[in-house]
Amino acid sequence: MKARVHAVAGILALTLISLFFTASVTVELVGTERAVSIVKTSIVVALFVLVPSMMAAGGTGRSLAQGRTAPLLRRKQRRTAAAGAIGLAVLVPCAITLQSLAAKGDFGTPFVVVQAVELVGGAVNITLLGLNARDGRLLSGATRRRRREAAATTARL
Ligand code: HEM
Repeated sequence: MKARVHAVAGILALTLISLFFTASVTVELVGTERAVSIVKTSIVVALFVLVPSMMAAGGTGRSLAQGRTAPLLRRKQRRTAAAGAIGLAVLVPCAITLQSLAAKGDFGTPFVVVQAVELVGGAVNITLLGLNARDGRLLSGATRRRRREAAATTARL
């Protein structure tokens, strides 16, 4: 159950960050200023789902990792800490600034610079969470293998 909650929270966080990234790029390439403003407001609202889902993925991950020593876990822990720091120090302030500039119809240089910073931070976080999801699949595969072997040993006794 905890592993299911963990996977859902982690994949939800990854999906939201990827959506923010693609929606921002698409709307800025082909959308109107009004469409950009709607996307920027939607991103700020969706932060209220993204931040708790990141916290849930980190919390359940730490709890699932208890008593396990796989090097993959240390890497997942480090990546999650880095993604959280980038999220709070870069992505959240960028999202709020962009929303406020877009609401005023101010799409000048500050908007472009903050948007570029947000896209770089977003790309880094998509990579970190993607690697965590890949390593998570490896870890849960190992758990399933261990359980199957234990069940087979019990059946033989
Ligand atoms: C936001 C960051 C994270 C994402 C996106 C993520 C994603 C995933 C995914 C997709 C799985 C596979 C679940 C399945 O196949 O059912 C998984 C498993 C796992 N993750 Fe994470 N994870 C994250 C953070 C962490 C952290 C910080 C830890 C702890 C160091 C952790 C520990 C684990 C463990 C132990 C498993 C295997 C659970 C089992 O045995 O079934 N994860 N993770």
